[in-house]
Amino acid sequence: MVLIESEKYIPIKEVFRLEEGSKASIRGWVYRYREFGDKAFIIVRDSSGIIQTVVEKKSDIIPELEKIGIEASLTLSGIVREDKRAPGGKEIRVEALKVVGPSHKFPITKDASPEFLLDVRHLWLRSRRMNAILKIRDTVFKAVHEYFRSQGYYEVHCPMFITAAVEGGATLFELDYVGKKRKVYLTQSSQFYLEALIFSLEKVYTIAPSFRAEKSRTRRHLTEFWHAEAEAAWTDMNDIIKVEEGLVTYVVKKALEERLEELEFLKRNIEMLENVKPPFYRISYDEAIEILKRKGVNVKWGEDLGADEERVLTMQFDKPIVLYGFPEEVKAFYHKNDPQRPEVTLAEDVLAPEGYGEIIGGGERISDEQELVNKILRFGLRPEDYEWYLDLRRYGSVPHSGFGLGMDRLVMWIAGLPHIVEAIPFPRTVRRVYP
Ligand code: 4AD
Ligand code: MG
Repeated sequence: MVLIESEKYIPIKEVFRLEEGSKASIRGWVYRYREFGDKAFIIVRDSSGIIQTVVEKKSDIIPELEKIGIEASLTLSGIVREDKRAPGGKEIRVEALKVVGPSHKFPITKDASPEFLLDVRHLWLRSRRMNAILKIRDTVFKAVHEYFRSQGYYEVHCPMFITAAVEGGATLFELDYVGKKRKVYLTQSSQFYLEALIFSLEKVYTIAPSFRAEKSRTRRHLTEFWHAEAEAAWTDMNDIIKVEEGLVTYVVKKALEERLEELEFLKRNIEMLENVKPPFYRISYDEAIEILKRKGVNVKWGEDLGADEERVLTMQFDKPIVLYGFPEEVKAFYHKNDPQRPEVTLAEDVLAPEGYGEIIGGGERISDEQELVNKILRFGLRPEDYEWYLDLRRYGSVPHSGFGLGMDRLVMWIAGLPHIVEAIPFPRTVRRVYP
């Protein structure tokens, strides 16, 4: 491969800051190609943007042009010219051009179906749409780290191989583990490990994959998703709700500051994001059931709310909702029951508006050993599977709360995407583990 040596390449975005007549050298990939008379028009893209370049079909460049197809990689240099017809108002008149990696018959064409784009996701990542989404995702992850660190949380790392269910057996992935001495699963949540870590560090968080064998095919379920989880000693449900509100608000603010261009490219409704400020609406489960009934949804007290119910509910609000006070039977066993009203738990979800629904699940944990054993038994589980978790209640237990935030769902909502598979580069669903 021959690169144009001794040239300094600049990001395409920076070419637009240069004055008419400046010399510029760029490198990137062919986004569009068209010939017109004795000229070739090549739109080149790199990670920062796209620009039109114009090539005179002179003899020394013709052999290079023959190697060009959509997505060929190249380096070029030339003179910056203003041209109203060019995207962004500037173009480069090419003086030298080298194809680095030829490309012929790039498989993605204009009429590609969504299913085909998933089959060739490894190539579709180059699209301007995926480029914008991935930049938003980068900002979202960075902002989550920044927020937790600014609040004095320590970042920790938990195992992915585990031996007991956190979120119920129905979605556990069982593994063929070396030696097969006992059942081993992929983790559904790092929560129990974070609970152990608060006895050392008090406030901890992690961002890691979680795995769920979700049989339901919905717009918002992956089998492998990125989970930001936090746990804090000496906190109750209301304390942890404030952390959740602070986190979501900070991430949205950062996305608006750093990624406005990408959000606009995706045609996101910016006003809805600007509304995201604490306090979020507080709605009890009881009130939610009443609202849903009034809207004609057939739902009874005691039932879990699924994507459909959450869509109806969140369409009524212009910013996120904190939904709290769920019945015992719809939430996992570790949630503390409300001492004033034992049939409901101190569990809460944060629902994103505009129909998106649940992005966070959290609440206060049971900190008393006997209360936890009783609840494990009530749920038909075996206390012996939770031996080490019970230990945390035996040696200096403290009230504590925590939550889990689905990072891919957060990206989906912030970017305004119709389906979660667009929010992650290589989505894993019940039907897809390739590419
Ligand atoms: O509500 P969930 O199941 O709660 C827990 O796992 C707790 N143990 C977390 C904790 O308190 N540390 O999951 C938390 C969040 C959900 O609100 C959702 O955003 C996301 O994780 N999530 C998924 N995202 C994509 N695909 C899936 N299959 C998901 N399942 C949960
Ligand atoms: Mg949940």
